[in-house]
Amino acid sequence: MSAETIETTQARVKDNFLPGPVLLLGAPGVGKGTQAQMLMAELGVPQVSTGDLLRANIQQGTELGKKAKSLMDVGQLVPDEVVNEMVEDRLAKGDAANGYILDGYPRTLGQAEWLDRHLATGSAGTRDLVAVNIRVDHGELLRRITGRRTCPTCKRIYNIHFQPPKVEEGCDFDGTQLIQRSDDTEAAFIERMKAYDAQTEPVIDHYRSQGRFAEVDGTASVGAVSAAVRAELGRLRSAGKQGV
Ligand code: AP5
Repeated sequence: MSAETIETTQARVKDNFLPGPVLLLGAPGVGKGTQAQMLMAELGVPQVSTGDLLRANIQQGTELGKKAKSLMDVGQLVPDEVVNEMVEDRLAKGDAANGYILDGYPRTLGQAEWLDRHLATGSAGTRDLVAVNIRVDHGELLRRITGRRTCPTCKRIYNIHFQPPKVEEGCDFDGTQLIQRSDDTEAAFIERMKAYDAQTEPVIDHYRSQGRFAEVDGTASVGAVSAAVRAELGRLRSAGKQGV
């Protein structure tokens, strides 16, 4: 975290400004990671991306990573018990005490029910979870996915069509050579969308029925989507008298 972000966080905590758990939902490529990174900087709470946690395990060569890679490369989901345990460990870290932004989790009803139970124990803070679903037409998503490049050092997300780096294939912030994810192929995308339609769409209904839920149009510019997400979070928190 930068010195500026730490100062902002300290000021907000002093003012009793506690973001609590925020959940970003949506299909592969709608912009969850992009928006989570912006919110993280603004709210001073960590992004908890199960995709990033799994990719870190792959990079470190752990047993978990070896099992996950074969599933991820073909667009299938990693088993719930593996992912739930990984999330439990991550949420127990001190930087998540005032809130966090969940990105890519939960994506099955089993995971959502596990999270409900986890939140009910109060171990993840005292605030209610608020959920924002980002919607983009399926046709647009393939272009976003195959054009995506990421920085392996700082994890910043780019797109050769929509958000190119200033210098070709290099990160604007640290100059690292950008990489393409191994599951960002058309074949894997088709399988990821099948998994999403069958297993993750019901998760959206789960949160819609609980309230504290909003939807935004993800087809606008990154800045416009960010403003819409921020506005919905503010509305949801003030409806629960818990201003973000
Ligand atoms: P994960 O890493 O979570 O991938 P995903 O959910 O498929 O989502 P993506 O990361 O592909 O997209 P995103 O919505 O974050 O979009 P982004 O901001 O990058 O999961 C990968 C795999 O891990 C899964 O398939 C599964 O195998 C496993 N896994 C992960 N979590 C799991 C779980 N909970 N349970 C079981 N298995 C799990 O944006 C995409 C591109 O679009 C970028 O290039 C970006 O620059 C661009 N873009 C973003 N916003 C805009 C905009 N407004 N306009 C134009 N371009 C934009």
